[in-house]
Amino acid sequence: MLWNKSKPPAPVATPDILPQHVAIIMDGNGRWAKARGLPRSAGHKKGADSLRTVLNACRSSGVRYLTIYAFSSENWKRPTDEIGDLMQLLQHYLRQELDTLHENKIRLRFIGDLTQLSANIRDSIRDATELTTRNADFNFTVALSYGSRQEILRTMRKLATDIEAGTLKPADITEDMISETLDTAGLPEPDLLIRTGGEQRLSNFLLWQSAYTEFYFTDVLWPDFDTQHFMLALQEYSQRERRYGTTGEQQ
Ligand code: IPE
Ligand code: IPE
Ligand code: MG
Repeated sequence: MLWNKSKPPAPVATPDILPQHVAIIMDGNGRWAKARGLPRSAGHKKGADSLRTVLNACRSSGVRYLTIYAFSSENWKRPTDEIGDLMQLLQHYLRQELDTLHENKIRLRFIGDLTQLSANIRDSIRDATELTTRNADFNFTVALSYGSRQEILRTMRKLATDIEAGTLKPADITEDMISETLDTAGLPEPDLLIRTGGEQRLSNFLLWQSAYTEFYFTDVLWPDFDTQHFMLALQEYSQRERRYGTTGEQQ
């Protein structure tokens, strides 16, 4: 029998301690395609299937927030053809899935510098955001043209503008105020961040927000990532001890 290394051996049950918010860096699409002699776009397409699977696994496990890194500020440096393929895939995904997402009472949000995107995509994003804005069962956030440093820079400029206008004093800036000025305003911080594809770095994702996030890195390439892999990550999370700088003993 052929042994598929990317498949975990046994099904894993939903653990008792769950993250409220899971963030995912979906990496490894290009390598998945290359290993099969396929174009990178085939990896991205298969990656969209993994996203459907993981979104469902997330909802049925009881996690309330999922934030995915779909396209980074730095991904604009990729060849124009690949960017075009990715944008087309995104547009297609939104068109195809929006009704289902809405029926399932999922609220969609988009974070990042959306001004960089084409008018078509911006329209789809606006429609999806408006249509689902009152949904409260599950929160699905897509980071698009997103870079955490750029997000922090925008935040600093916004606060500096308020100072210049005389409506804010430097000494009155608080951590909460910064959090509420970031693109992720209104979202809890991620409890668990999963990165597929073997790299162990943040690549400019949620730097401020992940100060106390638990990280889970796996070599599994995103197009191979399925419900069982997701449950393994939840299992591992449930065994972590989050101390937030304390001794961990009852205060
Ligand atoms: C992640 O897969 C998808 C995006 C960054 C848009 P990659 O395209 O980075 O795949 P690898 O890392 O080259 O395998
Ligand atoms: C991070 O993956 C961005 C997304 C998954 C959208 P990259 O493949 O762009 O990251 P690096 O370049 O390996 O750090
Ligand atoms: Mg990559």
